[in-house]
Amino acid sequence: MERKLEGKTCIVTGAARGIGKAVAVKYAEHGANVVLMDLNKETVEATAKEIEALGVTVLPLVVNVTSSKEIDAALQEVESQFTKIDVLANCAGISTSRLILDIEEEEWDRVFNVNLKSVYLLSKGVAKNMIKNEVKNGKIVSISSQASKIGELGNGAYCTSKAGVNSLTQVLALELAEYGIAVNAVCPGFVDTEMLREVFQKRSAIEGKAPEEYEELLTSQVPMRRLAKPKEIADFMLFLSSENANYITGTSMTIAGGKTLI
Ligand SMILES: NC(=O)c1ccc[n+]([C@@H]2O[C@H](COP(=O)([O-])OP(=O)(O)OC[C@H]3O[C@@H](n4cnc5c(N)ncnc54)[C@H](O)[C@@H]3O)[C@@H](O)[C@H]2O)c1
Repeated sequence: MERKLEGKTCIVTGAARGIGKAVAVKYAEHGANVVLMDLNKETVEATAKEIEALGVTVLPLVVNVTSSKEIDAALQEVESQFTKIDVLANCAGISTSRLILDIEEEEWDRVFNVNLKSVYLLSKGVAKNMIKNEVKNGKIVSISSQASKIGELGNGAYCTSKAGVNSLTQVLALELAEYGIAVNAVCPGFVDTEMLREVFQKRSAIEGKAPEEYEELLTSQVPMRRLAKPKEIADFMLFLSSENANYITGTSMTIAGGKTLI
């Protein structure tokens, strides 16, 4: 098997579980040393142990990606161990399920801080590292969502924060093009993770349905009639993070089992 990230250093946020973990595993299977950033020491270290078994170097870091102070300290640690950074995968995210008429300012801010501000802070810090070290074909890939492209009932803060990720992706792609750094976003549909199960619980309540009934309804709207597996999103993240995708930048591509959102 061709190893697409041999010897590269890749940072993955939200790496302790779900899509972020699948991305970190995929990168490690392709020979990358991976830096895992997440909130909880136990879970991020448990994930690191699993990935180390693949024979790569893994650095687990407890980082709240909404804090510039914590990010700066973490990036210093990464630089002292690996010097240069080749790939940043922004996977950390949170969902909320509240009507605009009901959502409080603190919750709105929390969603924007995790889903959008973190992408700004990390992309800025990592791009500076790439430029300083003259990294060839650096990559920044962020997980957005299909919700960035359509309004969803009771999902206003999430939809708009993810639309912000797509816009930030376009701006970063323009500003970093001269350094050969490619910046893209991936917009998944429904991916079978703990976050999605929590969303089914909360959104079914808003719509007055049982969670299973709500899941069936949403799945019936997917042309392929199933949820995505985290690994299927990780496969595309790998492609966008590899040398195969050097000329792809500024895109926000939907991966949603046949839903065609622009
Ligand atoms: N699951 C889906 O259906 C789906 C669909 C589209 C997009 N997404 C997006 O994919 C990404 C991953 O989602 P998931 O389903 O794997 O979710 P998840 O809840 O299973 O995993 C998210 C991870 O991010 C971490 N995290 C949250 N806030 C953080 C913070 N402040 N600092 C550091 N880490 C933090 C969590 O601890 C967790 O490990 C998110 O950005 C989400 O919005 C998910």
